[in-house]
Amino acid sequence: MKTEKNIPYKIYLDEQEMPKKWYNVRADMKNKPAPLLNPGTLQPMTAEELGAVFCDELVQQELDNDTAYIDIPQEILDFYKMYRPSPLVRAYCLEEKLQTPAKIYYKFEGNNTSGSHKLNSAIAQAYYAKKQGLKGVTTETGAGQWGTALSMACAYLGLDCNVYMVKVSYEQKPFRREVMRTYGATVTPSPSTTTEIGKKILAEHPGTTGSLGCAISEAVETAVGKEGYRYVLGSVLNQVLLHQSIIGMETKAALDKYGIEPDIIIGCAGGGSNLGGLISPFMGEKLRGEKDYQIIAVEPASCPSLTRGKFAYDFCDTGMVTPLAKMYTLGSDFIPSPNHAGGLRYHGMSPVVSQLYHDGLMEARSVEQTSVFEAAEQFARIEGILPAPESSHAIRVAIDEALKCKETGEEKTIVFGLTGTGYFDMMAYEKFNNGEMSDDIPTDADLEIGFKGLPDIPEK
Ligand SMILES: Cc1ncc(COP(=O)(O)O)c(C=O)c1O
Repeated sequence: MKTEKNIPYKIYLDEQEMPKKWYNVRADMKNKPAPLLNPGTLQPMTAEELGAVFCDELVQQELDNDTAYIDIPQEILDFYKMYRPSPLVRAYCLEEKLQTPAKIYYKFEGNNTSGSHKLNSAIAQAYYAKKQGLKGVTTETGAGQWGTALSMACAYLGLDCNVYMVKVSYEQKPFRREVMRTYGATVTPSPSTTTEIGKKILAEHPGTTGSLGCAISEAVETAVGKEGYRYVLGSVLNQVLLHQSIIGMETKAALDKYGIEPDIIIGCAGGGSNLGGLISPFMGEKLRGEKDYQIIAVEPASCPSLTRGKFAYDFCDTGMVTPLAKMYTLGSDFIPSPNHAGGLRYHGMSPVVSQLYHDGLMEARSVEQTSVFEAAEQFARIEGILPAPESSHAIRVAIDEALKCKETGEEKTIVFGLTGTGYFDMMAYEKFNNGEMSDDIPTDADLEIGFKGLPDIPEK
């Protein structure tokens, strides 16, 4: 392995160097993300209205577009120390294998039992629920990483945790389900007959494998109907991006320590939380006119919300029980083909990421499933880590960019988010290894069906 003077294979910050504040990129955005709207009145959701669904302090964070830095409570910092700081790895082996002059770094968030970055927000949301004296929380999970993370956080703090798990994942990933139950969570496959909305969806789409949108509706309905419970969400919301800014803050601190300036920053995008978190401090510099970076969001070709979606107000869920968010969306009725990156099968996108993309401050690419698994396998064989299918979307584009550098001879510095590990995704890897994996790309006519269901909101 050829190493560069002074730059280790892994850059670890010391515990004392860990960021003690989250960075709120909204404070530096000229065009703020549009407010969540009450679907009944079409007026911005008030703190009081949001408080019926979410914990009070999280509502404050959701609505705060102005405070740039928010202190991370000591209890959360203590929990973070169990698995953070996470390493920033210089992918020397991959560079050598690709024979590229590019310098590739990845921020590895899979080094905890939940196996992904989701724990960064799970502990924060569980902490505020506990502080408010609640009994428990409800949520949805797609791939299972968020549900696992929340189960861990709730177990640590002694909170009850009800997880609605997208049915296809519940069936394909029994081990992840059991991890959640081991940490004390109740796990229900969605759509289920435990909620009115679940029954309705089952009646309209018998045999459906579910989607994140359906599971969100069920989790919200349960939280609202249960004394002492609130709903928590693992992505999309402003508050989640805020918590995930720890990824970007650590990445920046590690790069700064060695005087490294990235040219390209890449993240996979499901609801936008890891990407939003990773890019936050860099985007802040870009927004303030201090630096410029090429920022790329990567999504599956089967669920292309940024690259083929519409920037419009839409429901965050299939049952249309949530507030309306202005975002890039395929329509809340859109149910993507059951591809193997469950965490990226979401019809919408974070309003913050959507606004930044709309304003031309970042780009988006969509990639096909088989090429993602080719990249995942190449990465696993050379860098050792078995990546989650979601994370492998970022690997795909990082490799593509490094190969472009090989053509041009440019020595670009590429940083990408390696959000998690794929140990529970072996059925997907099996399909790939057997040559049975397909690429399902919706036609324009397929997408039109989803767009038709978009609510008609007059432009202000
Ligand atoms: C490993 C992993 N990466 C990425 C994602 C995508 O989510 P987000 O876009 O919110 O980071 C998920 C979601 O479940 C995930 O499990």
